Amino acid sequence: MSKPRILVARSVFPETIARLQQHFEVESNQDDRGWSKAELIVRLKDKQGAFTTGSERIDAEVLAACPELKICANMAVGYNNFDVDAMTAHGVLATNAPDVLTETTADFGFALLMATARRITESEHFLRAGKWEKWSYDMFAGAEVYGSTLGIIGMGRIGQGIARRGALGFGMKVIYHNRSRLDAALEAECKARYVGKEELLKTADHIVLVVPYSPASHHTIGAAELALMKPTATLVNIARGGIVDDAALAAALRDRRIAAAGLDVFEGEPKVHPDLLTVPNVVLTPHIASATIPTRRAMADLAADNLIGFLVHGKPLTPLNPAVLGGK
Ligand code: GLV
Repeated sequence: MSKPRILVARSVFPETIARLQQHFEVESNQDDRGWSKAELIVRLKDKQGAFTTGSERIDAEVLAACPELKICANMAVGYNNFDVDAMTAHGVLATNAPDVLTETTADFGFALLMATARRITESEHFLRAGKWEKWSYDMFAGAEVYGSTLGIIGMGRIGQGIARRGALGFGMKVIYHNRSRLDAALEAECKARYVGKEELLKTADHIVLVVPYSPASHHTIGAAELALMKPTATLVNIARGGIVDDAALAAALRDRRIAAAGLDVFEGEPKVHPDLLTVPNVVLTPHIASATIPTRRAMADLAADNLIGFLVHGKPLTPLNPAVLGGK
């Protein structure tokens, strides 16, 4: 019997490709060339499976052009690159890569919070530019972290990891806002108190965004929300571009309406709003929150396990639209 055909849409560990080749005919993009949607379709139209990252948009147009497709396995926990409703309508299974990146991503969220509050990259640029001539009592004075109030918007697994770090490691008072409230035991374990979004914006010293992107969460933070924040507060976005209105944020940073921001994700990335590149009080990183080699291996393994699990054994590990199982 011939092997199912799959497309690996971005460069990935050679070991992952070798493992997939044991089960599938694999076409892969190991050169990591950027494909247009038309190029993606040309490669995907005779495939039964796709190994995707957050960069490949799988929508109704792609699905209509790829009638043999049965599964798209994302090497990412976020899956806003998938039109899951359209996938379900076409009988295509969607899977993501949850859990394996939770602690690594929470570490990074906390690192970005610390770098932002304590002005680490701003002061490093100053030093590298040869501007450090003398010590002064208020040089790069930042915001207090230990004992301050941490506000988390989006209290899934990663948000909970950040809450634990803040409460247990840094003596922070943790407040959170989420679509639904955690159960009492989990709230107690995370030492987190549920509040409304407005109270969180008004009272937190540091705000971390970990909410998934959807049309409903588009611009969760815009000019109106920034205006509610304390002028001494910091904002960290490790969620997705589009959760923050980047133009409004750049204006708030420029006018010092908030103290600083740390951003790992951007609207329209890899492009970055030009105004963010000109304000000093922002720490910018290129969407690397889950980027450690062990974690990226675990994410790649889980995406591969989903493809093998479904196309070979009929049992995916982390289906997002299980309604299609047994369908196509
Ligand atoms: C990264 O952004 C992910 O969703 O895994």
